[in-house]
Amino acid sequence: MDTSVNYLGVSFPNPLVLCSGYLGVTASTWDNVAKRGAGGITTKSIWLKEHKGHANPVIICNDDYMVNAVGIPDAGIEKAKVEIEEYRKRDNGSPLIVNIIGGKADDFVAITEAINELKPQLIEVNMSCPNVEDEHGKPFATDCPRAADLTKRLKSVTDVPLIIKLSPNVEDIQAVAKAVVEAGADGITAINTYGPGLVIDIDTAQPVLANKFGGVSGPGIRPLAVKKVFDIYDCVDAPIIGMGGMTSGRDAIEMMMAGATLVGIGSALYYRGEDAFKIVLDEMVEWCEANGVQSFNEIIGKTHEVLKNEK
Ligand SMILES: Cc1cc2nc3c(=O)[nH]c(=O)nc-3n(C[C@H](O)[C@H](O)[C@H](O)COP(=O)(O)O)c2cc1C
Repeated sequence: MDTSVNYLGVSFPNPLVLCSGYLGVTASTWDNVAKRGAGGITTKSIWLKEHKGHANPVIICNDDYMVNAVGIPDAGIEKAKVEIEEYRKRDNGSPLIVNIIGGKADDFVAITEAINELKPQLIEVNMSCPNVEDEHGKPFATDCPRAADLTKRLKSVTDVPLIIKLSPNVEDIQAVAKAVVEAGADGITAINTYGPGLVIDIDTAQPVLANKFGGVSGPGIRPLAVKKVFDIYDCVDAPIIGMGGMTSGRDAIEMMMAGATLVGIGSALYYRGEDAFKIVLDEMVEWCEANGVQSFNEIIGKTHEVLKNEK
């Protein structure tokens, strides 16, 4: 079957994209992930200047969930520019989504301007990380007016399609989605990690993570992530990158039926190994072939259609 999908005018060879924050910060690592079957690559969040992460241990995983407080360490834009330019030269067919982050709104604007010069296929804005609150305050995506104002400012400094990454840690994700789309967002990514959460080592009664608290991801958040994407699809006309605990072909198809055009593969790299992209895509294709589906476009938002027809 033809596995390609179009997202905001960019052609992806398949709908599975690397989630931000996983697997390295260099062109050669991204290229390797693409060669292992990723339809697209999202960079980890890039800061304007060097940013220190949290102390170790920063992550704990089990069969059900991951909790991380990596704190987004990064070398800053100058280093990232070199890697982005190098990746573009590889021309491997898997588009690059450059994910950016800032502390203050002015930082987001400055980094968007700098990334705009490189003309990546897409820019994703991380307004939703729960792990840098101590330093930078509540994420922009937890407040409609702040999220909308920032989106408007970023749109005014770039002609690269702009995707806003939303937080699940809000009362009304539809309100935030509507606010950023009305402010000019071209696409939405949902979701960033839940939380913060806490894991305690009962033998010492101490938090496991040095940062004490961290964002929750992995299979345990999957139904919650699917519901967020379902709700967003219902209220805005902007294509969605859906993510949160996607570890099998059935999970990815479920996420597309909820409304996602692209599906993020993150924790699956831990649960299914480094060939997760190929494994999950093969499972998707097998399911489609068994169910007479010829293109993934047929299943995007399918559950909405089914529910509408039931009425
Ligand atoms: C270790 C780790 C690092 C992450 N770093 C980033 C990041 O730099 N930028 C970002 O937007 N999201 C980051 N995320 C969030 C993921 O991109 C994703 O939204 C979330 O983990 C849900 O997907 P998953 O359950 O497949 O991991 C990170 C998640 C983890 C577990």
